[in-house]
Amino acid sequence: MFKEPDGATPLGPDEIRGLKFKHITTRGELDELEQANIQEALLWINGRKRGDILQEEFVRTLHRRMFGGVWDWAGTFRQREMNIGIEPVQIAQQLTILLGNARYWADEHVFEPLEAAARFHHRMVEIHPFSNGNGRHARIAADIFLKQYYDHGPIDWARGQDLQLQNDHRDQYIASLQAADGGNFEPILTFVGAIEAPQ
Ligand SMILES: Nc1ncnc2c1ncn2[C@@H]1O[C@H](COP(=O)(O)OP(=O)(O)O)[C@@H](O)[C@H]1O
Ligand SMILES: [Mg+2]
Repeated sequence: MFKEPDGATPLGPDEIRGLKFKHITTRGELDELEQANIQEALLWINGRKRGDILQEEFVRTLHRRMFGGVWDWAGTFRQREMNIGIEPVQIAQQLTILLGNARYWADEHVFEPLEAAARFHHRMVEIHPFSNGNGRHARIAADIFLKQYYDHGPIDWARGQDLQLQNDHRDQYIASLQAADGGNFEPILTFVGAIEAPQ
């Protein structure tokens, strides 16, 4: 029903049933509704008083804030296997491990801020906690992690392009995540600006 760019998880009938706007039929309309919801979430993020990005509850709350106006399942973990992501039954446990690791990376200065954020982002999308919105959620989550734990500015993910659309920049982003799936972090570190592009 909704045409996805490469590296996105297609929605299934159960997820589409959770759409709060029954009249929408095109990908463009869906993108706009989601984008408006995300804009509201960004205001909430900037104005909020509490919320630790390394707590599972806040990770889910962030997703609900970003997508809860559009999807009734926002903020709840995925229950279906997808082409990306671990088995649904492992999500909660693997997320807890990631959040603990990220806290350790920050407390013990294991990585430079941008490297820690890139690794946090990659593992979050690799786990793929939600049925949709994982890329957008995990990019904002990484930026909140940078701010909260390193007092560091956000990553320039888009570089003037739209990461939600099929383009060279997105291809590079997806390829860098695939490399990281195989243990090679150099492309994602280059992508986020943690290291210089290799010659
Ligand atoms: N091989 C991969 N390994 C890890 N993450 C991936 C891979 N391929 C795609 N992704 C991530 O999954 C996201 C797509 O999942 P999706 O839930 O549709 O997010 P969104 O709706 O925000 O685009 C991509 O933006 C990217 O962050
Ligand atoms: Mg998607």
